[in-house]
Amino acid sequence: MLYLKDLVYHPAATPTAILKSINLELAPQQLGLVIGPSGSGKSTLLEILAGLASKTTGSILWRDQELTPDQLRQLAGLVFQFPERHFCGHTLLEELRLGHPELSKDRLDQALVAVGLAHLPLPTPPRSLSGGQQRRLALAVQLIRQPYLLLLDEPTAGLDWSMRQQVISLLAQLKQQWTLLVVSHEPGELASIADRCWTLSYGELTPVDPASFNRQPLGANVE
Ligand SMILES: Nc1ncnc2c1ncn2[C@@H]1O[C@H](COP(=O)(O)OP(=O)(O)OP(=O)(O)O)[C@@H](O)[C@H]1O
Ligand SMILES: [Mg+2]
Repeated sequence: MLYLKDLVYHPAATPTAILKSINLELAPQQLGLVIGPSGSGKSTLLEILAGLASKTTGSILWRDQELTPDQLRQLAGLVFQFPERHFCGHTLLEELRLGHPELSKDRLDQALVAVGLAHLPLPTPPRSLSGGQQRRLALAVQLIRQPYLLLLDEPTAGLDWSMRQQVISLLAQLKQQWTLLVVSHEPGELASIADRCWTLSYGELTPVDPASFNRQPLGANVE
């Protein structure tokens, strides 16, 4: 269970807090979705949960234990927005092994199976994959570290309808095993797989019913 209690992020350089007293609760095997406009603090929230930035006040708890940024780096796996722009490996194998050359072939295969890319030859260059496959690879890169909490920044941004469906069904499948927190500027199809939903506006988080976003027909969101 992930708990955020009165989390505040207020860097000294900014006149007002970027995140203001955030309270959030997310159970294992749930997908939480935070919807907010550009500049509302979505990526900042994920960076704090991934241990890449330090909160100003408040607590972050996992199974009732308060976590430091170091522990959060172990616990969480963050997939950045447009993760394919950060690929550095020349092949799938290189991309998956970056930072952990010791990983067994089994762990690698498990991660590729989990994202539906096990059929691809390991020497395939990441750049030759489709947009949806590249997003899957970016997820595999995090899954290989076996994090408890997967953090996803705009996982469907810039994808066409069919690739968005691929990513949505993959996330629906991943939540059977992992806890996921997804942020996006618009609910789109993500709301249909969300268990919990919040809106973020000027750093303030408000719970909403995910079903309230499900009225629009699939494919209605032109990006
Ligand atoms: N360390 C920092 N110091 C000063 N300002 C910051 C810092 N980190 C983030 N900000 C500011 O906080 C606000 C929220 O930024 P953030 O990137 O989290 O928004 P976002 O919701 O992810 O936006 P987008 O949808 O465009 O990605 C922005 O105004 C940004 O400039
Ligand atoms: Mg952002």
